[in-house]
Amino acid sequence: MKEQISFLLASNNPKKQKEMGDILAGLGIQVISMAQAGIDVQPEETGATFEENALIKAKAVCQAGGLPALADDSGLAVEALGGAPGVHSARYCPGTDWDRLAFLLKNMENIPEEKRGAKFVSAVACAWPDGRTAVWRGECPGVLLQAPRGQGGFGYDPIFYLPEYGQTFAEMSQQLKNKISHRARAMEQCVAGLAEQIKTAGK
Ligand code: IMP
Repeated sequence: MKEQISFLLASNNPKKQKEMGDILAGLGIQVISMAQAGIDVQPEETGATFEENALIKAKAVCQAGGLPALADDSGLAVEALGGAPGVHSARYCPGTDWDRLAFLLKNMENIPEEKRGAKFVSAVACAWPDGRTAVWRGECPGVLLQAPRGQGGFGYDPIFYLPEYGQTFAEMSQQLKNKISHRARAMEQCVAGLAEQIKTAGK
């Protein structure tokens, strides 16, 4: 029988844990939440990039729990706004997801269609107790609409349009989004990277 390797996840979001756990089960990795491990750390996300923030979280949880730890950081980078809201996506303005979406639309008010390019970015980092670290990035390009479309998803999904699918992330099935999203792409890299680490270091 394949030996199980335990990895901590720098999150208490059960959906994230299930999604990552399902993907990593094939490598013999069991994903444990901070709550399950009795860890309560909330490091400040002071990094200037998604990669830096993911690493800050992975290192803090690894140190607190003494096991390898995974963390992710994600957001929306808008070309016409020089990459904003970027690492500040979750706190672009106070209020709800809808308030932030409306704030973004307002900031894009005078931007013509051909200049409304944007991408979702996800960084997934891993930190090991022996000091090894790794970070992987996934991107999903799209275009920002002038008004929301669709009921699904969360965050900026209703204005994030993917021309090749003719749908916003909020109109798309969760199944398709999970296949093509920035997170899915980062996790593909992560699986390959972790497989390599397990082959060479045994964990
Ligand atoms: P995190 O939880 O610190 O990674 O922050 C992610 C933030 O980026 C969320 O609160 C959303 O505003 C935005 N975001 C990241 N991924 C998505 C997505 O798939 N759809 C919509 N918004 C997203």
